[in-house]
Amino acid sequence: MRPAPSLLATALLAHSTLAWRLPHPFTDEPEDDTPLPLVIWHGLGDTYNSEGIQDVGLLADEIHPGTFAYAIAVGADANADRSATFFGNVTEQLQFVCDTLAAHPILSTAPAIDAIGFSQGGQFLRGYVERCNKPPIRSLITFGSQHNGISEFKTCGSTDYLCKTAMALLKFNTWSNFVQSRLVPAQYYRDLTNYDSYLQSSNFLADINNERPVKNEQYKKNIASLANFVMYLFEDDTTVIPKQTSWFTEVNGTEITPLRKQTQYKEDWLGLRQLDEKGGLRFRSITGEHMQITVDVLKEAMSDFLGPMNKTFAPEPKVVAGLWQEEL
Ligand SMILES: *[C@@H]1O[C@H](CO)[C@@H](O)[C@H](O)[C@H]1NC(C)=O
Ligand SMILES: *[C@@H]1O[C@H](CO)[C@@H](O)[C@H](O)[C@H]1NC(C)=O
Ligand SMILES: *[C@@H]1O[C@H](CO)[C@@H](O)[C@H](O)[C@H]1NC(C)=O
Repeated sequence: MRPAPSLLATALLAHSTLAWRLPHPFTDEPEDDTPLPLVIWHGLGDTYNSEGIQDVGLLADEIHPGTFAYAIAVGADANADRSATFFGNVTEQLQFVCDTLAAHPILSTAPAIDAIGFSQGGQFLRGYVERCNKPPIRSLITFGSQHNGISEFKTCGSTDYLCKTAMALLKFNTWSNFVQSRLVPAQYYRDLTNYDSYLQSSNFLADINNERPVKNEQYKKNIASLANFVMYLFEDDTTVIPKQTSWFTEVNGTEITPLRKQTQYKEDWLGLRQLDEKGGLRFRSITGEHMQITVDVLKEAMSDFLGPMNKTFAPEPKVVAGLWQEEL
């Protein structure tokens, strides 16, 4: 599998300065005012070169001129990339992305990168941080991602046959090897009424959430090494069930357990607590249905968390985050 050249990246390369790659004439240090590159991973049913994804790259360049933006593609063209959002083994897809970023002439030489993940692209980027992180991510921003899984599958548009085929297969037997190795949403399905099957058979989420008895210490180290992990939740989300998964919240029937009250956090399986204690774990909520992101919200996220390597970040005010979390 070869990645398609990203149109977005090609378009933006033209007016990226790439100055951080060049030695400073006096200090031999890379210039530090050039923004870090931005990597974007789109969601289910979308493509790397869709108008929306390209606009995100252009907006980043508007907020921080000289931003090199790269949209992740899994597959040789837009059709294959869209198909890979429904079908495939996420472990293999992620390894492909790791290899691609590590070999990329610009991304691989950057001191770090920033990343924005939309919907499932968000938990896949988190998987990238845990499993590879070369080049390392500084700010990870996720919008409506399913960090703590989904308990129901999406309903498809009436003419979206790719989606319909995928969802029909999903319902067949979610925990079978057949489905877990081929259907992408099944790999972040998390069933609390059948938790043992999930733990045993989940091909992706149970592993990257470090839920199994043997914990992966590297995953924890890598998450704790982030400068920012910003999780946006859509308050009126009816596509992702439960919507609180975007904040890592656990919803079991009527029982709602925010991240900070979970064993996951208390025992710090993933480094989220360590990150929280240094003020880098940020809960954000926005009004609107799934993926209804205004330009203003994107601009704010980009000015707060993207930019040059020497940018500093104010620690998250804990009380505010706590209150928001209790409310949901
Ligand atoms: C980062 O570096 C740029 C260019 O050298 C400088 O203008 C800016 O003030 C620095 N910012 C911080 C937070 O140090
Ligand atoms: C997914 O791919 C990985 C790596 O090739 C493999 O180890 C794993 O068994 C696959 N998952 C399933 C459910 O087949
Ligand atoms: C979810 O709730 C059900 C019913 O109360 C319970 O039997 C089950 O153990 C819970 N699952 C988890 C993982 O807590």
